[in-house]
Amino acid sequence: MILAQLTDMHIKDKGLLAYQKVDTSAALEAALAHLERQSCKIDVVLFTGDLVDSGRASEYARLRVHLEALNTPFFLMPGNHDDRTALRAAFPDHTYLGHEDEPVYYTIEQYPLRIIALDSLMPGRGEGQLGTLQLNWLAERLAEQPNRPTLVAVHHPPFPTFIGHMDRLGLTDSATFEDIITRHKQVERVISGHIHRPIFTRWAGGIASTAPSTAHQVALDLRADASSAFMLEPAGYQLHHFTRATGVTTHTALVGNWPGPFPFFDSEGRLIE
Ligand SMILES: [Fe+2]
Repeated sequence: MILAQLTDMHIKDKGLLAYQKVDTSAALEAALAHLERQSCKIDVVLFTGDLVDSGRASEYARLRVHLEALNTPFFLMPGNHDDRTALRAAFPDHTYLGHEDEPVYYTIEQYPLRIIALDSLMPGRGEGQLGTLQLNWLAERLAEQPNRPTLVAVHHPPFPTFIGHMDRLGLTDSATFEDIITRHKQVERVISGHIHRPIFTRWAGGIASTAPSTAHQVALDLRADASSAFMLEPAGYQLHHFTRATGVTTHTALVGNWPGPFPFFDSEGRLIE
C-alpha cells in the first residue's frame, strides 16, 4: 500500500498570501495535481497538520473546496496553526475527528499498515504537547495489536532538528512519547510535519521523519540562533510505501512541471550516450 503524506498547507482566506509572499492555495492545487498524476495507486492521503494558517472557519471552507478534487480517501490532523472546533465544523462527515474538548486522535485500521494519528496542538502556542490522556491512549492502542505494523503520525516531530528556532517550538513531552514507542517494536515509523523540510533520524529505536510543506520551506540553517525564515524552494510531499516484508520505504516528491521523463536506453536497448 502507499500512504501519501501532505503537510503544512497553511491555507489562507481568498486573496491573502502567507507572510505576504506565499500563495498557499495555488501551492496546494499544484501538489494535489502532481499527486493525481502519480503513476502508482495511492491508497490513502494523510494531511499532518497546519491545514490552514489562522484556524478560521473561512480558511477551512476553502480547504474543503480544494480537497473535493481529491479522488483518494484522506484523513486530517491538526497542527499548531489549526483550530479543532473550526476543523470539526468544516468536516462534520469526518467523524473520526471526534468530539469537543478533546484532542483529535484516532486510528486508521482498514489498511495493511495501521496508522495512529495524534494531536500535538496547544491552542495559541507554537510548541506541541501530547498530554497524559493521549499518551495513555497511545500506549493502550499499541498494546492491543503488538504484531501489527504501525505508523504513528504527530504534527510536531519528537526529535531535535538543529534548526534552532524550530526546535524552540518542539514537542514538549517527547520523552514520555519516546518511552512508549521504544517499548513497541511494531512501530515502523513516526512521521511529522511542522519543520517544512524532509528530515530523517533514528529515534526511539526506529526511524522518525518529517516531510516538506506543500507551500513554503523553512530555511536550511543548522545554527542554534538561526533566524526564523522561509524559502520558496520546490514544495513537496512524501509517499510512504509499505509491505509487510519490507516495512516502510519513503520517497520525497518535488512538486513542479519538471522536464522528462527521458529514456536511458534507445529503441534498440542501447544506453544513450
Ligand atoms: Fe507549518
